[in-house]
Amino acid sequence: MQDPGPSATALGVAARRAAHQWLDHPRVFEDPLALRILPPELAAHARRTPWMGMPLVLRAILVARSRFAEDELTRARARGTRQYVILGAGLDTFAYRRRPGDGDLQVFEVDHPATQAWKRRRLSDAGIPVPDSVHFVPVDFETASLGERLAQAGLDRGAPTFFAWLGVTMYLTRPSIARTLEFAGSTGSGGGIVLDYLRPRAALDLGDRIGFDLLARWVAQRGEPLRTTFEAEEIGAVLRGAGFGSVVDLGRDEINERYFRDRSDRLRVRGSVARMLSARL
Ligand SMILES: C[S@@+](CC[C@H](N)C(=O)[O-])C[C@H]1O[C@@H](n2cnc3c(N)ncnc32)[C@H](O)[C@@H]1O
Repeated sequence: MQDPGPSATALGVAARRAAHQWLDHPRVFEDPLALRILPPELAAHARRTPWMGMPLVLRAILVARSRFAEDELTRARARGTRQYVILGAGLDTFAYRRRPGDGDLQVFEVDHPATQAWKRRRLSDAGIPVPDSVHFVPVDFETASLGERLAQAGLDRGAPTFFAWLGVTMYLTRPSIARTLEFAGSTGSGGGIVLDYLRPRAALDLGDRIGFDLLARWVAQRGEPLRTTFEAEEIGAVLRGAGFGSVVDLGRDEINERYFRDRSDRLRVRGSVARMLSARL
């Protein structure tokens, strides 16, 4: 059988995080491994054509959501969380950027088996060491039991656990999103989750519909069609039903206020297609 290779959207967002490292000052999201983890031909392409056919606005939301997840993880760690589950990890490099105080954090990278196998080869080819605290968990959210796989990988379900689920909900069906959140909501109190989601096309104004359609076409052409959108109230209700409380849901203005204030360049979130939230257990 032919190797299906890595997720094209995972490569696409990773290339933009890398471009952020050398194009944007000050950086919203510091990732010294962002360029090194890219396959060399993509890294060269990103260096030559940093816009990569996508507007600045997309880079802003991508770096903001990664920063948001790691900021919220820091808070969860202060509450005693020692398990970090990165759902649909793609080329996320958190686990390989060890910092002082990260010692006792166990990181579970969950991803589609094809993307994860590719990433493991890429880490090796790039000479990026994999710490013992990293657990690879190949899972297709649509067909496998996340809870079972994480338990096999050593996750303590009764202990506080923080989840990041960035750039994934839009590619999944509603039942698999609900199942995943039910599992996350069944882990120990003190943990939490950060995720992002897209709003329904019909709820958007004309400018945002154009952006939504461009994104929908770009991802569909790469075999990863958009499947699910939410309004804030809907995803909030799913989270509360799964056991989460105190949902903080951020749109353009709140994200810009938090991460893009007082910049002299044009890097900021525009439009209302994407939102991100954090919820606590
Ligand atoms: C846009 S990428 C985001 C990657 C990463 N979270 C980031 O922000 O860089 C989407 C990720 O979702 C994963 N994914 C999509 N559908 C999946 C599924 N059914 N099961 C498991 N992972 C899936 C892909 O493999 C890919 O890593």
